[in-house]
Amino acid sequence: MASNDGDSDHRAQVGTGAAGQSRPTGGAAGSVSLAVTVNGTLHTLAVDPRSTLLDVLRERLDLTGTKKGCDQGQCGACTVLVGGRRVLSCLTLAVMQDGASITTIEGLATDGVLHPVQQAFIDHDAFQCGYCTPGQICSAVALIAEGRAMSADEIRDLMSGNICRCGAYPNIIAAIQQAMGQP
Ligand code: FES
Ligand code: FES
Repeated sequence: MASNDGDSDHRAQVGTGAAGQSRPTGGAAGSVSLAVTVNGTLHTLAVDPRSTLLDVLRERLDLTGTKKGCDQGQCGACTVLVGGRRVLSCLTLAVMQDGASITTIEGLATDGVLHPVQQAFIDHDAFQCGYCTPGQICSAVALIAEGRAMSADEIRDLMSGNICRCGAYPNIIAAIQQAMGQP
């Protein structure tokens, strides 16, 4: 599993059934079974064992909020949370996550109320094109839960795996500080 913590080593069909479960789907020869809970819903699919988690999320589950930037583990646009830990879904084989609980940007809001990090990004205008934003927000949610960042510099360091081509970094840092309750 490829983590995205900004440290030095950073670098078909699915039918929805009752009770928030998807129906198992058949697959082509060579496919393997995968069961993952995504944003609280259990999905059981047959997938190509070479499929990345990113492609399964976007192309099989229609969760296109998670973005494909470089597809090489360098930009962080594909960051999602697996068991609360941020990972690069473009470098993670989906079959490695069998049984995992995954949260994407679509799963952060609760009952129509934005997650505090989402609200902070809006409050601080922490994006321009928005392409990096889902990954930035997922990464920031995990960063705060990790509890390691105590200053703006530490936030910058621990968010270094998430690139913003629009250069919204000052606003992103301010948003994360707001969500952390820092002045
Ligand atoms: Fe995964 Fe760029 S798309 S790191
Ligand atoms: Fe455009 Fe970050 S807002 S890449």
